[in-house]
Amino acid sequence: MQDTYFIDTMGCQMNERDSETIAGVLEDLGFAPTEDMLTARVIVLNTCAVREKPVHKVFSKLGGICKLKAKRPEMIIIVAGCVAQMAPEEFRRRTPLVDIVVGPRNLSGLAEAIREATGEPSVLADTSEVIPEGLPSSREDGVNAFVNITYGCDNFCAYCIVPYTRGREQSRTPERVGAEVKQAVEAGRPEVTLLGQNVNSYRGTDEEGKSVDFPDLLALVDSADGLKRLRFTTSHPKDLSLKLLDAMRDLPTVCEHLHLPIQAGDDEVLARMGRKYTRAHYMGILQAARERMPDIAITTDVMVGFPGETEEQFERTVAAFEEIRYDQAFMFMYNDRPGTRASGFEDKVPEPVKLARLQQLVDIQNRISREKNEALLGNTYEVLVGGPDLKSPSKLRGRTRTNKLAIFTPRPVPRRAVPAAGDMVYVRAEEAFLWGFTGTEVIE
Ligand code: SAM
Ligand code: SF4
Ligand code: F3S
Repeated sequence: MQDTYFIDTMGCQMNERDSETIAGVLEDLGFAPTEDMLTARVIVLNTCAVREKPVHKVFSKLGGICKLKAKRPEMIIIVAGCVAQMAPEEFRRRTPLVDIVVGPRNLSGLAEAIREATGEPSVLADTSEVIPEGLPSSREDGVNAFVNITYGCDNFCAYCIVPYTRGREQSRTPERVGAEVKQAVEAGRPEVTLLGQNVNSYRGTDEEGKSVDFPDLLALVDSADGLKRLRFTTSHPKDLSLKLLDAMRDLPTVCEHLHLPIQAGDDEVLARMGRKYTRAHYMGILQAARERMPDIAITTDVMVGFPGETEEQFERTVAAFEEIRYDQAFMFMYNDRPGTRASGFEDKVPEPVKLARLQQLVDIQNRISREKNEALLGNTYEVLVGGPDLKSPSKLRGRTRTNKLAIFTPRPVPRRAVPAAGDMVYVRAEEAFLWGFTGTEVIE
């Protein structure tokens, strides 16, 4: 019987994309995917270090996996991702049964390490390594493909561990990005999401030596044959240009959705976070975006309880949320991360205060999200079908250009099969919920 592998992916889309590479490497070596961790020959934990809780989770999951390995010594345990990079030696010390520790920049050494995995544990954790190109990848089923445009981050926001785990920022060449997009579309992915910690600082150089910025790159990718939708994440407000907003308005495949982390609504907190923009600058971007694309969806990341955040400063974040009216927000309590500047700040906000602030903001945002989705009811939206809805399989699910989830009943049409993943349909919105709406297919 063929040996199998199981990957548990935590964290952000960068890790999801890395898991596809890890899957590709394992498949090249003859392993087949399995959903059953208990029988897998190779178990991969692709870890996230951005907050404390997921890090604890990694060590508790590893405890269980090591017990499995005690019964099945032929098992190979791989720890990948940002925790692997953050604490490579810790794994050796705390969990000696781990075979391979591999940071996000070192995946080119993974195949060799797996071949040797019977001997000493391998630690591959060097963030100075140049990004390898051409590694195999095995993408999960779906309509969207993630394509990296930059690796790493140079911003060193005071609270953030990512520059330490992912290394310095590096842009891929436009040709490489274009080739991967083409390959993904040809493999049946009509939607592509370009990934970078700060896509707006993308600086590529093409084969002729010409500099290509992010809006230029969007224009290049937009022209890919067969591409229906183009998304990107994450935009840093300090580097977002009007040229980008013009490109979003003008390029047909680029979707009307901007994920623009605000992090805080108060200028002093923003300055101490090292974000390098003010609230007024941020508001200016949103105004310019909404002038160009009145129906654009805006989403954000925000943090409450950053060291020294006063009640008044938090209230300015609340007021910003009321003013901006985000479609959706990822909301976090500040967490100390080892080695970051903010972890050395002294005026820490007590946990119960952080929790209360988070709850207040979540309640406000949930109300706004619902109201925004209610405002869509009665209208018809273009939806890219992702597949059947798991809860009620007679229905389908998909996303609008603004990234709202649409769960809908397809119309029976003579001589037409039920729409399938990758098809574009029109859906009338009938009932709102937090992440989107339910509705019925409309035949034009
Ligand atoms: N590069 C993106 C940016 O600049 O916004 C986001 C990167 S980070 C992986 C995702 C989110 O996690 C951040 O936007 C921030 O809100 C949150 N985050 C990062 N460090 C954190 C910390 N120490 N405590 C709590 N939340 C944190
Ligand atoms: Fe972290 Fe800031 Fe870089 Fe985003 S831009 S990954 S928050 S350091
Ligand atoms: Fe992503 Fe977590 Fe690393 S959010 S970049 S996997 S620390």
